[in-house]
Amino acid sequence: MGMTMVQLRVTLLSLLLIAFCVQIPVLASTDSEDELEDLDLLELDLEEPESSASSSVSSVLTLAQQKRALIHLTDDTASSFFASKQHVLLLGYASWCTRSAELMPEFAAAALLLQESGIPVSFAKIDAAINQRTASIYSLKGFPTILFLVNGTEQKYTGGFTRHEITVWVRKHIGIPVTTLTSVVEAEEVLNRDRTTVVGFFKKFEGPEYQAFLDVAMKEDETEFVQVDDMDLAKVLNLGFQRQPPFLSIIKKQPETYVPFEGSFDQRSISWFIEANKHPLVMKVNHHNQLRLYASPIKLHVTLFADDDSSVHLLPLFYEVARAFKGQILFLMIDTSDEELSRPILMLYGADASEAVVTAFNYADGSKYLLEENITLESLQLFCDQLVSGTRKPHYKSQPIPSEKENDVEIVVGKNFESVVLDTSKDVFLEVYTDWCVKCDAANKAVSTIGKHFKDFSSLVIAKIDASANEHPFLQVDDYPSFLFYPADNKSNPIRGPKKWSTKKLVQFIHEHATLPLTSHDHADKDEL
Ligand SMILES: *[C@@H]1O[C@H](CO)[C@@H](O)[C@H](O)[C@H]1NC(C)=O
Ligand SMILES: *[C@@H]1O[C@H](CO)[C@@H](O)[C@H](O)[C@H]1NC(C)=O
Ligand SMILES: *[C@@H]1O[C@H](CO)[C@@H](O)[C@H](O)[C@H]1NC(C)=O
Repeated sequence: MGMTMVQLRVTLLSLLLIAFCVQIPVLASTDSEDELEDLDLLELDLEEPESSASSSVSSVLTLAQQKRALIHLTDDTASSFFASKQHVLLLGYASWCTRSAELMPEFAAAALLLQESGIPVSFAKIDAAINQRTASIYSLKGFPTILFLVNGTEQKYTGGFTRHEITVWVRKHIGIPVTTLTSVVEAEEVLNRDRTTVVGFFKKFEGPEYQAFLDVAMKEDETEFVQVDDMDLAKVLNLGFQRQPPFLSIIKKQPETYVPFEGSFDQRSISWFIEANKHPLVMKVNHHNQLRLYASPIKLHVTLFADDDSSVHLLPLFYEVARAFKGQILFLMIDTSDEELSRPILMLYGADASEAVVTAFNYADGSKYLLEENITLESLQLFCDQLVSGTRKPHYKSQPIPSEKENDVEIVVGKNFESVVLDTSKDVFLEVYTDWCVKCDAANKAVSTIGKHFKDFSSLVIAKIDASANEHPFLQVDDYPSFLFYPADNKSNPIRGPKKWSTKKLVQFIHEHATLPLTSHDHADKDEL
């Protein structure tokens, strides 16, 4: 079995807890700075060293380096500092928040990387749990929060939380969108780094084609852009072997290392090319990244389950929608030929892999959704709109409503649970079983006998539901088989049947709890049991 819903949710929520800290009442303490530094030490060696051949900023910073890289602000110093600087990147942290401690070394490393390149941005930090005046002026509520201040005016920081994501974002927002490579060492570093880089090769850094490149570089604030005007460097970067500049490509991590741009050199085409290629807009889920994806601060996940054939025409739709909902929804794709990965998840939705399926899960509240319409651009867009606005109805899995009883036992599925079980004109006895529980076969047999026994009493319904294929928000059972009695006058609290059951005990249980008159045929029936 894969994870149950409950396990999945618990796992995810515990992962989410470490993703962000929220403001809680804090007893101001001047010691907390020390606590943070202790945390820093603990977290420092978590990150694997990244390739940084041309940089002297090591992957792991000492506390002294961190201290030097960041200006430490308080309520007394913050506003005058902001007013005096053209560009400040501010980290609002809380000393008790582990996530703050994880970010701090990356933030400091970003500061050092930019200092090293002579880029004039001040990196500052403030304990926003203690310096509440500044925290309230700048709405520093969740921790950690990064703010960008231009001449004292705050702007939203929309970048990522690794050193490179931070530096790329800052470069773009202070008007240095492209780095010029001037040495083979620098070019080799770009080729070998483990992150995406857009490379432009131009005869001269001027003219309309170059301007188009520059405009895109300015807008695209997640990806680093570099440029060369030297054939030798271009060769190091595999650029322009057969072609004359201008030439553009994306260099990224394996397996798709190198994507050359084939379009015409205008802003729109370049922009589109980079959007489509810089990183998977739709991320392919595998056994390694699964947990990391669950921990994403984006809690709404929409997943396409498809095989190679159907992804060919469905992925382009998915890309288009993914672009529109970037930052609100994480778009994932699971290859249904990997059954070990796809089956347990599809089972949660009562779906199978015979056709492409689109599902959604909200990790904030554990609700799940299924796109029941045909997969089209319109239906996907509507699905995502409804998810984001909270108007989509959650999905509960259900088999089709059966047309008739089985051996005098009413078959309940997700879709008829309300009309059968919650019918206030009837007492209802419900067996909850699953297709994998060992003792359920015996229980099913007993319930058939009970169904026959009571078949003449129209006020009493004997029913069963396969909980592995059907769900209802009111059905909360995690022990199989379970026997529940829903009195006609009180549907909200079903009475649990005996754990040590026999056919006879169950009949007794029904007699005890029936609220509508059962004219008894007790002596006649005893022989039957
Ligand atoms: C910030 O101030 C500097 C110098 O005082 C000025 O050159 C720059 O244009 C200002 N930036 C903005 C966005 O107001
Ligand atoms: C879905 O597509 C199938 C075949 O393309 C079509 O027969 C069916 O009517 C469609 N269903 C809806 C709800 O549009
Ligand atoms: C419904 O049943 C529950 C549990 O058996 C009981 O506590 C509650 O008082 C009942 N409510 C009514 C209105 O009878």
